[in-house]
Amino acid sequence: MKAVWWTRTGPPDVLVPGEAPDPEPGAGQVLIRVALAGISFIETLVRAGRAPRPAVAPPAILGNAVGGTVVAVGEGVDRARVGERVVASMHGSGGYAELAVADAADAIAVPDGVRLADAVALVTDGRTALGLHLRAQPKPGETVLVTAAGGGLGVLLSQLAIAAGARVVATAGSERKLELARRLGAVAAIDYTASDWPRRLAAAAPNGLDLAYDGVGGTVGRTVFDAVAPGGRFVVHGLASGSATDTSEPAKPVTVIGLGELASIASSARELAARALAEGAAGRLRPVVGQTYPLERAAAAHAAIERRETLGKTLLAVSGHAV
Ligand SMILES: NC(=O)c1ccc[n+]([C@@H]2O[C@H](COP(=O)([O-])OP(=O)(O)OC[C@H]3O[C@@H](n4cnc5c(N)ncnc54)[C@H](OP(=O)(O)O)[C@@H]3O)[C@@H](O)[C@H]2O)c1
Repeated sequence: MKAVWWTRTGPPDVLVPGEAPDPEPGAGQVLIRVALAGISFIETLVRAGRAPRPAVAPPAILGNAVGGTVVAVGEGVDRARVGERVVASMHGSGGYAELAVADAADAIAVPDGVRLADAVALVTDGRTALGLHLRAQPKPGETVLVTAAGGGLGVLLSQLAIAAGARVVATAGSERKLELARRLGAVAAIDYTASDWPRRLAAAAPNGLDLAYDGVGGTVGRTVFDAVAPGGRFVVHGLASGSATDTSEPAKPVTVIGLGELASIASSARELAARALAEGAAGRLRPVVGQTYPLERAAAAHAAIERRETLGKTLLAVSGHAV
């Protein structure tokens, strides 16, 4: 099969298209002919050797989410699943390829009416966004800040908070992303690459923030943390800037919520993914797939994500498949 190899840690061009042996489904697994693979931001950190605890080491095939069709099943799996349109979480590797093997339980049937591209976004970003939302519980009238609001996760966190009746203050690094946030219903949209942005943040939230979602970290995350009102919640789910927000000092009456707490929301990541797909089918989660690259151009896709040029979710398409 065709696949993209992560050959060594380094810049995007260490992702090299090539051949790999066709995988075979073991007991309890399904084989998926991949039409679309998702790229998550964390994969750019893993590739570069900057991820805190990478699940894989090179040489390997990266890719945490695929969408496609079940073409074979392993022992113990219902043969009726052959032909099913599914998305699957890959536990960190194997997605950038024409064929992928997943645990049968991780391969979730795509609900009718949900585009495969949206389903691939929902199985990762949707799962995370829904879990963080259910944990942080934005309420009507609350002021909720979203960082990287034009990104894959930011779009969905904003949609959920707005639907809950919160006032969303979107923050992002370019006008294109801020424009998307305004279209989604943000009451304020602030560019945190501008030097006067803390002043604009104070104007948008004069009584402080009730809740903030921080996927950026560094000085941006710290400025946001400082703007959270006493009794508020601060969700730390990423470090896109390179370092996580330090919330240790000064001691502040703010509830800090981390990704580890998603475990308390659902019995499994799989259950949360299925719920996110159901939210997609109901029209309550609407991913924005901003760009789709051919599989063999995975390096270009990673480079665009690193340059902060991408909008919403980024996908890879395997040639010959209707997407
Ligand atoms: N997607 C998930 O399921 C998931 C799960 C767990 C954790 N996370 C974390 O949540 C955050 C968002 O994830 P995502 O997959 O939805 O990615 P994304 O938001 O689509 O992309 C990352 C965004 O981070 C912002 N950013 C700020 N400083 C940056 C820098 N120095 N270099 C590159 N980007 C920078 C950029 O937006 P601006 O240009 O607008 O600043 C960029 O678009 C990431 O930190 C990720 O690790 C995501």
